[in-house]
Amino acid sequence: MNTHKICILKGDGIGPEIVKEAVKVLDCCAEKYNFKIEYDEALLGGCAIDACGTPLPQETIDKCKKADSVLLGAVGGPKWDKLPGNERPEAGLLGIRGALGLFANLRPAVIFEPLKGASPVKDEIIGDSLDLMVVRELTGGIYFGERGRRVSDGETEAYDTEQYKVSEIKRIAKVAFDMAMKRNKKVTSVDKANVLEASRLWRETVIEVAKDYPEVELNHLYVDNTAMQLVRNPKQFDVILTNNIFGDILSDEASMISGSIGMLASASLNAGNAGLYEPIHGSAPDIAGQNIANPLATILSVAMMLRYSLNESEAADAIENAVNKVLVNNRTPDIYTEGTNRVSCSEMGDLVCKALS
Ligand code: IPM
Ligand code: MG
Repeated sequence: MNTHKICILKGDGIGPEIVKEAVKVLDCCAEKYNFKIEYDEALLGGCAIDACGTPLPQETIDKCKKADSVLLGAVGGPKWDKLPGNERPEAGLLGIRGALGLFANLRPAVIFEPLKGASPVKDEIIGDSLDLMVVRELTGGIYFGERGRRVSDGETEAYDTEQYKVSEIKRIAKVAFDMAMKRNKKVTSVDKANVLEASRLWRETVIEVAKDYPEVELNHLYVDNTAMQLVRNPKQFDVILTNNIFGDILSDEASMISGSIGMLASASLNAGNAGLYEPIHGSAPDIAGQNIANPLATILSVAMMLRYSLNESEAADAIENAVNKVLVNNRTPDIYTEGTNRVSCSEMGDLVCKALS
């Protein structure tokens, strides 16, 4: 029997409650699909600041490195908002991405059949489905470039640097093209090559990588145009390949088009098969501890983990099918519509388990 080692980072806000439901579902899968899970747990974000005085303790890095996969809830909250940048919970998240080499961030934006009406974009634009994948570079660019403050002409000036090496662009481009080969064979590379030198290198390098993928259609869009096209005609996209900061912004936009930010999962992968899996939404401190959060994005992150890191694709498919089935009649408050049952976070986890077995 296969044993998978998973490190759990509950994080802050609703993190602990949504992760609890995802673990419930993972345990159901383990039983049904005959594998074993060995759990470990560590602190990241605000809870780590409170317990250890740092958002990313060394022990957390060590535990994550030993695991086959990491499952994260969410980090951050108003309690830690006044801390300086490098001591905030978010710095812990960037730190773990860097420490584990998680350069490839996959953010699917899909519409779940029972939630079709939830998109704020008109029906005729969405049609009967939406399924695009944002492939975001996650350990480079302006997030990791040189930054600081200095005095210039007698006043304070701040700077952040967008920088990319050819090797960094190549490896993320490959992920996008490989992904496209398994999907509809289309990559849209997003940059700002009309202004930024880092974007010009990005575009040149992506064109080079594309030569190894003759079956994939490649086109290039500027980021401002992409933001517009996502609302005007989202169905033109299959895989969107982009840098760290544009990917941050466009993946939020794409998720909103699907109408269900509480539903979307993400994977952050390194050069091996290990990865960190987390919902794309935040820690929602305003509803923490009330058992009303939507655990489905975290549950679907477990499905991505089973597919991309643990080679248990049958179990991954089963979770996604179970979620679609449960959604027909049951909704947490964030996605509630009249005529369905309003269920709590823990009830949602139970329902998915029941639909699995
Ligand atoms: C995300 C988040 C993070 C990011 C923040 C919390 C640092 O917005 O994962 O999209 O900007 O990468
Ligand atoms: Mg973001």
